[in-house]
Amino acid sequence: MDSQAIKSLIDKSSLVFKENFEHNLKLANELKERLLNVIDHANKQAIEKHKERGKLLARQRIDILIDEGTPFLELSALAACNQWENQFPSAGVVAGIGLVEGVQCMILANDATVKGGTYIKETIKKHVRAQEIALQNNLPCIYLVDSGGVFLPEQANVFPDRFDFGRVFYNQSKLSAKGIPQISVVMGSCTAGGAYVPAMSDQTIIVKNQGTIFIGGPPLVKAATGEEVTAEELGGAYVHTAISGVADYLAENDLDALKICRNLIQQANQKKAPKILDYSEPKYAISELYGLIPAENKKTVHPYEIIARITDGSLFHEFKQNYATNLVTGFAAIGGFQIGIIANNGFLNAEAARKGTHFIELCDQRGIPLLFLQNITGFIVGKSHEHQGIARDGAKMIHAVANTGVPKITLVIGGSFGAGNYAMSGRAYDPEFLFLWPNAKTAVMGGEQAASVLQTIKNDTNEKEHPLVQQFYNESSAYFSTSRLWDDGIIDPMDTRKILALALSIVTNKKIDKGTFGVYRM
Ligand code: COA
Repeated sequence: MDSQAIKSLIDKSSLVFKENFEHNLKLANELKERLLNVIDHANKQAIEKHKERGKLLARQRIDILIDEGTPFLELSALAACNQWENQFPSAGVVAGIGLVEGVQCMILANDATVKGGTYIKETIKKHVRAQEIALQNNLPCIYLVDSGGVFLPEQANVFPDRFDFGRVFYNQSKLSAKGIPQISVVMGSCTAGGAYVPAMSDQTIIVKNQGTIFIGGPPLVKAATGEEVTAEELGGAYVHTAISGVADYLAENDLDALKICRNLIQQANQKKAPKILDYSEPKYAISELYGLIPAENKKTVHPYEIIARITDGSLFHEFKQNYATNLVTGFAAIGGFQIGIIANNGFLNAEAARKGTHFIELCDQRGIPLLFLQNITGFIVGKSHEHQGIARDGAKMIHAVANTGVPKITLVIGGSFGAGNYAMSGRAYDPEFLFLWPNAKTAVMGGEQAASVLQTIKNDTNEKEHPLVQQFYNESSAYFSTSRLWDDGIIDPMDTRKILALALSIVTNKKIDKGTFGVYRM
């Protein structure tokens, strides 16, 4: 059987299509506006001060560092949004993957215009997550450092725990031991714990009259020993390149430092990113996704319609087409990269869970990355399903998702509720990337259902007015999730194909452990 081009059954002239289109365009525009607000954030004074010092802004530094005309896959740009009175745009650090001298690199740039580039909980989560992606996918790391270290009022929440600030340096050791290059470019302050970022990198560049590295800054030195010393004398670029040897290359300014960094990557003997030019575009315009994503949460769209707008040539080679049709599985390609797609088409029942497990085993044996299109209200409930052992079949799928050695990419295109979140490769299942569409909702269950559960067990107040309804509504939004780093970012549906192709190209760097388990027919 050949791959079939999916034939769309959507009526683009229908009222529903138009209403959906309007609704989703509005959501996409809201996303764009929020992204612009974090780039051009409110603290104009800090931005002006930064520029007056002759420094480039964090995103400008990245633009100059990466190969001209190539995309930068920015991750979690809206981390910390709607928290901290929005005083930490992007959580004060820009993270993402870009090409440097043709090599895919993880780039982390502190934003010194955000509270001196200091670290709150979300900054650390973002930094640590970026390092994990680098570790999983063998990506060289470039740290553009400009940070005052820990945001002191938050020390108890960022300092001592397992995944707190110390994890950044622990990860640097692990990356290094795995042979993954790490380069620091010290473009500003590098204080206290932050001093270990350059100190633990393979090679460090420091900018003259601008970069400083010290375990304790001048005020601390004065308080501790009475010694009076300027920042430059204590740990400036000359000190570290000529006296201490903590840094290796002296740069004249930001531009010079970024040029040296590019040279170092060029010298690092790393594999270049794959270039695949031979693939066809989908037969349907990607903008039609706006007209398909239901404006009303309770409505659904058949996954064929989504797949037709993101796969090469709209082609899909379906597996078990007529069996357990509420889970759609099959092979396709995106941007020339082969992929196994698992997409929800309703709740998960026992047959769907077994079909999903079988398909994961196939992809695992063949080394084909998996794409989960998650839109799931959960596993089916009820006496007959429990009697059939739904929990046992769900467990099979969860085992397979957790243990497969092939890369997993998860895109939440609708709801992500209950154990469906787990079986469909939610955050806890370590997908290489997890993105959300702006309409995505993530929660243990819907607010009304939760209120109704509590009402039943506690004989509680009126279900519609129950405080849980509003709480669940707020907490399930895509912005709530992305602010807390439960995902790698919210993406405009229009960018889906482009971002998935980038992600697929990045995961080719991963050493795939094929055949984690055999193919057991379910
Ligand atoms: N904790 C909490 N807030 C901090 C901070 C820290 N470690 N470092 C800086 N800030 C805040 C400042 O209070 C200021 O806040 P505001 O905008 O609300 O007034 C903002 O960040 C910018 O700091 P400022 O000193 O005005 O900027 P700068 O660019 O001139 O200097 C630093 C930046 C980081 C060099 C300087 O603030 C500094 O040395 N901070 C202390 C660093 C330190 O000792 N860290 C140890 C922690 S492990």
